[in-house]
Amino acid sequence: MKNMKLTMWCSVAFILLASRTTGQDVKTNYDESQVPTYSLPELLITNAGTTVVNRRQWERKRRLEVLDLFAAHMFGRVPNHVDNELRFEVLERGLTLQGSARRLQVRLFFAPGRNAPALDLLIYAPVGANRRNPCPMFLGLNFMGNHTVTTDPMVDVTKSWVRNRTEIGYQNNQASAAARGVSAERWPIQLLIESGFGIATAYYGDIDPDFDDGFMNGVHALYPKGDDSNGQHWGSIATWSWGLSRILDYLQTIDAVNPKQIGVIGHSRLGKTSLWAGATDPRFAVVISNDSGCGGAALSRRQLGETVQRINTSFPHWFCDKFQDYNANENALPVDQHMLIALIAPRPVYIASASEDLWADPTGEFLSGRLAQPVYDLYGLAGLDMEVKPEPNESVGDHVAYHLREGKHNLLEYDWRQYIKFAQRHYALKK
Ligand code: GCU
Repeated sequence: MKNMKLTMWCSVAFILLASRTTGQDVKTNYDESQVPTYSLPELLITNAGTTVVNRRQWERKRRLEVLDLFAAHMFGRVPNHVDNELRFEVLERGLTLQGSARRLQVRLFFAPGRNAPALDLLIYAPVGANRRNPCPMFLGLNFMGNHTVTTDPMVDVTKSWVRNRTEIGYQNNQASAAARGVSAERWPIQLLIESGFGIATAYYGDIDPDFDDGFMNGVHALYPKGDDSNGQHWGSIATWSWGLSRILDYLQTIDAVNPKQIGVIGHSRLGKTSLWAGATDPRFAVVISNDSGCGGAALSRRQLGETVQRINTSFPHWFCDKFQDYNANENALPVDQHMLIALIAPRPVYIASASEDLWADPTGEFLSGRLAQPVYDLYGLAGLDMEVKPEPNESVGDHVAYHLREGKHNLLEYDWRQYIKFAQRHYALKK
């Protein structure tokens, strides 16, 4: 495979690390001058060595190859026999936010039977003066249960396994009503409704509880790992992404929702998840990755902040087993994360970082957006038309957009305001 040298950034002194990192005790690198020299896999050269010159060749050949490489080496494959036809049952509906929004709680069952594993979906959609009929919508998973995204007392407290957190009353892996609204800062529902957007969310642990359980729970339990998986059985990120697609199936059946204006959003590990969901499911009209870092938007080969080895050691269940082959061995990966962004083309993708979130490598997140451009070029679409990342709190780019929010690793109102504007622009909505 012919490799492209990253001469564009020759202003940055790339120094080859003398030795390979080998263990957990290896110091995390936060120093740009210590980023190793690297060559990225070619985006537009097929496995057979042919150069892709138009979108037809990209869509029919190279895009499929790249998708397959990510599934085989990183995220894992969804088992062939997975049942994609989820049953649903409406649990509750009502008016809220002084009558400006409708709330809907729906259960999606992953298998037949009333006691089958299920996911609880919470939806708010604008009504009245804010209403566009049908409305655009954002869909994102949440970390601690639907009841944590709002103080709305009608929202059910999750009964799924949760990580213990005594400060919010989570004990014996059971959630508590005391946690109502603890994540509300990350979910500005009122702002979304006022901007004419609906919002749908579900607890990611409903799909697969976030710990290394050897495929014993969540959707994984329904489809045990066979001996023939070649290290490519789906990890949690692939399972959460699959869950997002099943929610999308459901959302597309609701009259009040515009099926062509459903964007997927996620923060951190769920930002990695939204990118993989956007890559695998072209029905997501807009894709948003907030502080997704290693395994998300950040280029693995830069090894700045979290590395492949670190993530595979702390969170081995997020990826397929095969991904372990690339611990301290990033250059052998047949993909890097600019290719994940490229899989979303020609749809708009927004990548965001936070200035104090060096663990997620903001520069690496920016570069993968920038380096996805050759594929957007095939569609004649502008993306991140600049060589270096912008100053903090400046939103840049067109079909690929980026900002570096001042502050810590988080999803905040500033970020949402940019995503709302981005979606409004791409859906050509009046503000
Ligand atoms: C850890 C992990 C990151 C991840 C983050 C999160 O910090 O190392 O890769 O993005 O958790 O999801 O909160």
